[in-house]
Amino acid sequence: EKGGFKHFMLKEIHEQPRAIRETLAGRVSLDDGRVYLDPTKIPDSAWEGFRRVVIAACGTSWHAALVGKSVIEELARLPVEVDYASEFRYRNPLLDEHTLVVVITQSGETADTVAALREAKHRGCPTFAICNVPGSMAAREADGVLLTHAGPEISVASTKAFTSQIVALYLLALYLGQHRAVLSAADVRAHVEQLLALPTKLEATLGQDAALAELSKEFFRASDFLYLGRGVHFPIALEGALKLKEISYIHAEGFPAGEMKHGPNALIDERLPVVMVMPREAGNPASEVRYEKTLSNLQEVKARDGCVIAIVTEGDTQTATLAEHVIPVPAASDALSAVLAVVPLQLLAYHIAVRRGCDVDQPRNLAKSVTVE
Ligand code: M6R
Repeated sequence: EKGGFKHFMLKEIHEQPRAIRETLAGRVSLDDGRVYLDPTKIPDSAWEGFRRVVIAACGTSWHAALVGKSVIEELARLPVEVDYASEFRYRNPLLDEHTLVVVITQSGETADTVAALREAKHRGCPTFAICNVPGSMAAREADGVLLTHAGPEISVASTKAFTSQIVALYLLALYLGQHRAVLSAADVRAHVEQLLALPTKLEATLGQDAALAELSKEFFRASDFLYLGRGVHFPIALEGALKLKEISYIHAEGFPAGEMKHGPNALIDERLPVVMVMPREAGNPASEVRYEKTLSNLQEVKARDGCVIAIVTEGDTQTATLAEHVIPVPAASDALSAVLAVVPLQLLAYHIAVRRGCDVDQPRNLAKSVTVE
């Protein structure tokens, strides 16, 4: 049942290229330059007129929501707010019929997320669920559903559901963009080409498995870890930290790299591993600026004797001379490099947890689906 892998988590990490192929299948057309989603109860006129998107989710799905915010704002030019479902439901949120409320949930059964969905419906908002389980509560109750076809996820630590959620959010962004006429067929086609190239790049990234197993030998005794990133890589830093704490019980925190001077710098010493998520899209000015700024954060960490593990784009020689350890991922657009960059973080957490003798698939105190508050 584990397909020759020692744990479900490792199997599911390796299933990511397939999960993404399946999530894209039948939904994108290079010929038409369009994205096709299943019919929803939301009329076309509403899709054309949304003024705002609010996303509610928990845990790893909330990290996917943060990536989704960047992608939807960039591609559909709509403002997006991201909320923890547990906060949204008790917050008296400002909502109206021009707000699309999106919930993201692998299981479709998370109590807070389902409650957020019901609250949004109650207030008359169109609702949309990104969900991995057909027939689950969220999938049944939302006005529109985009199923991630990741297949059953058994490991408590979410991996393939996360990367599939990012791809689903990308599709939603393109769908909104084409309805709002901010994206032409040629624009959509260019994005679809990048999405279709992603599974092969993920396969190449999975080739780093042995290198990360090796790296885990050096770091499995650490008591704390810091994860840093900017832009779309900040939620990836948060996700890397969550993976590590949940399965290895090592304390880990994620920060936007630009926040270091505002407090976290005080934590840095020679015992603190710092994982810096810093791929770069050549020719994208915003990405280049973020990269340069993160590179100076790296120099600051080095000046304080911190030990850096950098996740970079293949061919990045600048970082190679500065960081102790460099894990390259294939070149991709800024948004899609988030999907590639999380893979080494999943593998690092996995190998560290195995070395510490932890119950990887069933970490203490956690359940796969949180159906009670
Ligand atoms: O099924 P959901 O996506 O609604 O679950 C949300 C969280 O409980 C879940 O992502 C949790 O954070 C994972 N254990 C993280 O690996």
